[in-house]
Amino acid sequence: MIETKNISFSYQEFELPEELNPDDSELVLAAREAASNAYAPYSKFRVGAAVRLESGIIVRGANVENAAFPSGICAERSALSYSISNHPDDKPIAICIASMRKDGITYEPPSPCGNCRQVIAEEESRTGNKIRIILSGKNKTIIIDSIICLLPLQFNKENLKVNLP
Ligand code: THU
Repeated sequence: MIETKNISFSYQEFELPEELNPDDSELVLAAREAASNAYAPYSKFRVGAAVRLESGIIVRGANVENAAFPSGICAERSALSYSISNHPDDKPIAICIASMRKDGITYEPPSPCGNCRQVIAEEESRTGNKIRIILSGKNKTIIIDSIICLLPLQFNKENLKVNLP
């Protein structure tokens, strides 16, 4: 029997920065600051990510490009690698992503690439906590409850268990 299933998700969209709660605003500022530290001489697209941990600590990361293009790393993975390496037991509860071009913060919010979605998904699965995702543009902010919305039907440790003897 063929069943057609539907996957949908809701997210919040904000126009004005003042509409964000203070914690989210703080994370947006941290992500923007991180973006300004990016090393992106090839794409000239600077991305910053700020991760809020359960303890309140904020960890930042930026994209770091390389002349050998695949050796570069995105801002989200740079921030999460740092937080997992340095605060393994302090679970991320939110990640904010912001991007800049030469003329400043982009009007449209950036959206995490497929690799970064997979890494955020792994972190939710590792910690058992949802990670709030804040996509920050100059005049638009999108807030999503969990990576499950951006990566439905995801491959994770549950899939591997199927093959265990
Ligand atoms: N980039 C990120 O840092 N995060 C994303 O989710 C999308 C893309 C970076 C990678 C590369 O340095 C530049 O943006 C252009 O793709």
